[in-house]
Amino acid sequence: MGEEITVAKRRAGRSAAEAVEDGMVVGLGTGSTAAHAICRLGERVNAGLDIEGIPTSFQSRELAREAGIPLTSLDAASPDVAIDGADQVADGQLIKGGGAAHAREKVLDTAADRFLVVIDPRKEADALNEAVPVEVLPSARRPVADAITDLGGDPDLRAAERKDGPVVTDNGNLVLDCAFGEIDDPAALAASLAAVPGAVAHGLFVDSPDEIHLGTADGVEVRSV
Ligand code: A5P
Repeated sequence: MGEEITVAKRRAGRSAAEAVEDGMVVGLGTGSTAAHAICRLGERVNAGLDIEGIPTSFQSRELAREAGIPLTSLDAASPDVAIDGADQVADGQLIKGGGAAHAREKVLDTAADRFLVVIDPRKEADALNEAVPVEVLPSARRPVADAITDLGGDPDLRAAERKDGPVVTDNGNLVLDCAFGEIDDPAALAASLAAVPGAVAHGLFVDSPDEIHLGTADGVEVRSV
């Protein structure tokens, strides 16, 4: 990753972290951009900010603990705000799940009063056209893949790196990366994918963000959605 992209991610993450106020419960997203927000929140906690975080993954839990952010859960609290990255953004619609954390991310990002998306310029597109990650129950892999093919997609089991075999999510499931080409109607595809038995969660986040924090080489642009 180039230095400019790293700087842009850091700017986006830190910008969203500044929107968090004393007393808030914060959904902590997954990925390299959300990690910058978690680090900045940790700095602010060490300087006296009183918040609790709810992680969306093993990764964000570990980062939050290292940063000194007190943790809670959805059993005990509702998030006031969630800060999370995205793999592609077009017209306020998102594809997420590049880190296979989209099932818990969707729960947190939807439960939060406000959802702040943190991205670098490579994530912006005119239309969503990346593969949509679909988390599936291992026992349902074949029927889910067949249903996705019927919907016009091309499902591909995500392979692990530095481990033989597939990626296994934090929830013990598998991920099918499903290419649909350009997605003309994200809401309709989201509804169809959500109706497939055995598909635990898909990576289309439709009408979900409240704000986009776009980090660039020059600064940060904050857009209401
Ligand atoms: C995790 O599964 C994803 O939804 C991430 O939020 C997304 O992949 C963005 O990650 P980066 O900020 O590392 O690009």
